[in-house]
Amino acid sequence: MQSLLLLIVLLRVSNSLNLNGNEIISGTVWNDTDGNRIEAHATGILIDPEDQSYWWYGESKKTSNLSDHGVNCYHSKDFIHWTNQGQVLQQSQVSIPGPAGPYVLARPKVVFNLKTSLFVMWFHLDSSNYGYRYVGVATSQHPQGPFQFIHGFQPDGIPSLDMNLFEDNQNGTVKGVYLIRSCNNQYVGISQLNDDYLNTTGIISRISEPREGHAVFFRNNRYYMMTSHLTGWAPNAAELFISNSNSLIDAQWISLGNPTHSSTTFNSQSTFVLPFPSRKNPGELFYIYMGDRWNAPDLLDASYIWLPYQFYSDTNVTLPWLDKWSLDDY
Ligand code: DGJ
Repeated sequence: MQSLLLLIVLLRVSNSLNLNGNEIISGTVWNDTDGNRIEAHATGILIDPEDQSYWWYGESKKTSNLSDHGVNCYHSKDFIHWTNQGQVLQQSQVSIPGPAGPYVLARPKVVFNLKTSLFVMWFHLDSSNYGYRYVGVATSQHPQGPFQFIHGFQPDGIPSLDMNLFEDNQNGTVKGVYLIRSCNNQYVGISQLNDDYLNTTGIISRISEPREGHAVFFRNNRYYMMTSHLTGWAPNAAELFISNSNSLIDAQWISLGNPTHSSTTFNSQSTFVLPFPSRKNPGELFYIYMGDRWNAPDLLDASYIWLPYQFYSDTNVTLPWLDKWSLDDY
């Protein structure tokens, strides 16, 4: 009996994210500090404006019943051990004209607005057949929520599907916050948010072909955008773009190809890229790809792939596969 209990404990520990202390393991089940599977898909990370700890927001467990779906949140001080904060925006809070719920609540991202002192969440808000094509916006006074639903709409009047927010934070100064989204699955549009981050102010840059899973980051005076192609839940070849200048206004996007050299992006789809302080080279950043291994058709078994980019120059970038890696090595 005692050895059975020991085996159960060992299995739980070996399934947790922090196997071997500090390592991030690719393609396994990641558990929270209670030993439960982390359910926060299509990840967005907020760095706490006060103590620089990490808030991980994501889609709740991918059940087939949309009425369970909401936005889950986890918190970590070390990026390795994540504590469940529960469902911080629930399906029942969403109220929009048009089709009745339950709705698709997807790809949530949260930023902090210094002027209003509110945490502002944007997410893809849709009818179950993805025909409504809205974003939803919710706010909270606290990163751990609960968030209050504010409104749902089509940004700049354009039907919106996969989306992300990008906080253009350069050395601690926020130059602007931007919505990047799939405009009616025809092209990618980027719009700056207005002062209170509750609306957009018109498209300033676009990629003229459809892409999903957009994740923008800034490095060495250039913007990068990791994307996927459009194949539903099935993985496909990622494509990384670089901007032609150090401004998002009228930015043109140049393809750098697929940095993974894997036709399925290691069986994952991009959702976020997090600049992370280098431990090997203090004062520098490295860049963490965050993707979803949707595992379709068994979405209940969806997991996460987080991997560091390797920059050989601004335009020579790879995303090598690693079975596991440590924050200490970058
Ligand atoms: C691909 C998108 O990237 C996902 O967020 C999700 O909407 C699926 N399509 C649905 O098929």
